[in-house]
Amino acid sequence: MTYVPRMQPAISISNLSKRYTSGFEALKSVDLDVRHGEIFALLGPNGAGKTTLISIVCGLVNRTGGDVLVDGHDIEKDYRKVRSMIGLVPQELTTDAFETVWKSVSFSRGLFGQPANPDFIEKVLRTLSLWDKRNSKMMELSGGMKRRLMIAKALSHEPQILFLDEPTAGVDVELRRDMWEMVRGLKDSGVTIILTTHYIEEAEEMADRIGVINQGQIVLVEEKAELMRKLGRKELTLQLREPVERIPESLIAHNLTLSEAGDELTYVYDSQGDRTGITRLLKDIDTAGIGFSDLSTRQSTLEEIFVNLVREGR
Ligand SMILES: Nc1ncnc2c1ncn2[C@@H]1O[C@H](COP(=O)(O)OP(=O)(O)OP(=O)(O)O)[C@@H](O)[C@H]1O
Ligand SMILES: [Mg+2]
Repeated sequence: MTYVPRMQPAISISNLSKRYTSGFEALKSVDLDVRHGEIFALLGPNGAGKTTLISIVCGLVNRTGGDVLVDGHDIEKDYRKVRSMIGLVPQELTTDAFETVWKSVSFSRGLFGQPANPDFIEKVLRTLSLWDKRNSKMMELSGGMKRRLMIAKALSHEPQILFLDEPTAGVDVELRRDMWEMVRGLKDSGVTIILTTHYIEEAEEMADRIGVINQGQIVLVEEKAELMRKLGRKELTLQLREPVERIPESLIAHNLTLSEAGDELTYVYDSQGDRTGITRLLKDIDTAGIGFSDLSTRQSTLEEIFVNLVREGR
């Protein structure tokens, strides 16, 4: 067998830490790999460290410790190379009020030493529905248009890796869908995308993998499909007419849990499986002579998983 080297991750972060001059520890030994061509969604509450992480990879904030490689290049030693590969749409909108859309995007491209390419800039502006506004000044744009302009600027030098820090904050529902569409198009053209968001729906819709960060630590990284599979698990709860002391022998095989008060039995099953086992369970419960007064089912959502993960860390 010949040895095939594993492809270099697009971004490889190990043992990354950040302590701001205030003494605040914003990142605590973060390990994370982002694969080429994937959409990676980073979820986390306010202050979790998302923007800090992105800013370090983009060279805007200095790390305190650890290693960050972008396509194998160290972010400090190969700063120029790394910066040319990366596009960043920052969380905070920074725009020059009197500059026109066209000029601003063309200038961004020039900043990275790329030769002028009006056809490419036109394509970007058209994709982002900003072509009609190309001669407008920034101050004449709406909030959503400004955000799209930030994306156009980030794409101006044809980066292979794009960071979107809260790309759809303050963007209306329809436009948000358009932006998702655009981001998918970028992925199809081979761009690696890392986005942060507070909208769980956005992560569900877009991401190949999801990472959760809380208080400067990565608490989960998982394929979205795997997370969704886990979400296929549902809980059936039976309220018993009479409390029981223990689960009867004849029901042991069902792996039930009994509430402390002995008045509730809970059964976990896979709602996407071929058999849920519910029919069998109810039959066996009847045979065991246990009566129930009510039954309910519930499904955990990505939002619940997220809230629980974040709460555990508090
Ligand atoms: N320049 C700074 N000096 C000191 N502390 C900072 C600085 N920038 C950020 N922090 C702190 O670091 C922590 C992480 O901030 P960061 O902006 O990375 O969070 P975030 O996950 O992006 O949050 P949000 O969802 O609100 O954008 C916060 O507690 C913040 O107050
Ligand atoms: Mg942020």
